Amino acid sequence: MKIISDIEELRDQLSGQLRTAFVPTMGNLHEGHLSLMRLARKHGDPVVASIFVNRLQFGPNEDFEKYPRTMAADIAKLEKEGVYVLFAPTEKELYPEPQEYRVRPPDDLGNTLEGEFRPGFFEGVCTVVTKLFSCVGPRVAVFGKKDYQQLMIIRNMARQFALPTEIIAAETYRADDGLALSSRNMYLSESERAEAPELYKGLNFVAEEVRKGNLAVGELEQAVMQLLDGRGWKSDYIAVRKRANLQAPNAAELAAGEPLVVLAAAKLGQTRLIDNLEI
Ligand code: PAJ
Repeated sequence: MKIISDIEELRDQLSGQLRTAFVPTMGNLHEGHLSLMRLARKHGDPVVASIFVNRLQFGPNEDFEKYPRTMAADIAKLEKEGVYVLFAPTEKELYPEPQEYRVRPPDDLGNTLEGEFRPGFFEGVCTVVTKLFSCVGPRVAVFGKKDYQQLMIIRNMARQFALPTEIIAAETYRADDGLALSSRNMYLSESERAEAPELYKGLNFVAEEVRKGNLAVGELEQAVMQLLDGRGWKSDYIAVRKRANLQAPNAAELAAGEPLVVLAAAKLGQTRLIDNLEI
């Protein structure tokens, strides 16, 4: 695997490649990330990964400084997956001057759910993904459903800008007890780790109720938030939304069997976890 930090060198290395499959990450790689590398390999060749902890998508009180940086271990994992190039730019390389031109998603998608609790987050994500795409020139790029809203926003961005990159969705990779793998899981204490699967259980409860025909989704959302908060969580949202645009379904849409997804974000101690489940 070639490890490249320089944009010009990356372009030289990939010039002439027409089917590059790209997986952007912030590192601290786990099996969820590696499942994306494997899916990328099915959709293109060569596979290019990136590791870059993107300051633009972190709020002032978020964990940018302490976000886990584990480059040596990450490199070993990517080597095993047959990744051709790891693009790991420094901040100076990717942002040599203040990034004043930004890509901002529309308010209805970018300011709801995660966007409501993390102002500017999706603008930071869209801006860096646009820039990484510009460096890598991928034919396809793989994103995880774990970050459902991010996937949807990137997909819409690619469509609206007619980017030459097809966006591929990868299923959420979970531990045996249901907890979605995440770099932030390493912040959990032993007792918090034991509690963490309750979030996914809550999502399953909502999904099963809706499938059984219980369409009082507002009550279901409230019930799960109260249940979690009663166990010591601080929930930001449990929300049943339309898969198509992540807006809330109305009664007619619910009755007509509109495809839905239930999304959740909640804090356990200092750690904020997100998860979702298609209904
Ligand atoms: P990061 O959190 O490192 O995630 C990189 C990719 O891995 C994302 O597409 C994410 O959805 C996917 N992923 C993470 N955990 C997963 C799991 N358990 N199962 C399946 N996929 C999983 O998301 C980002 O980085 C950044 O916002 C980025 C897109 C790189 C832009 O900075």
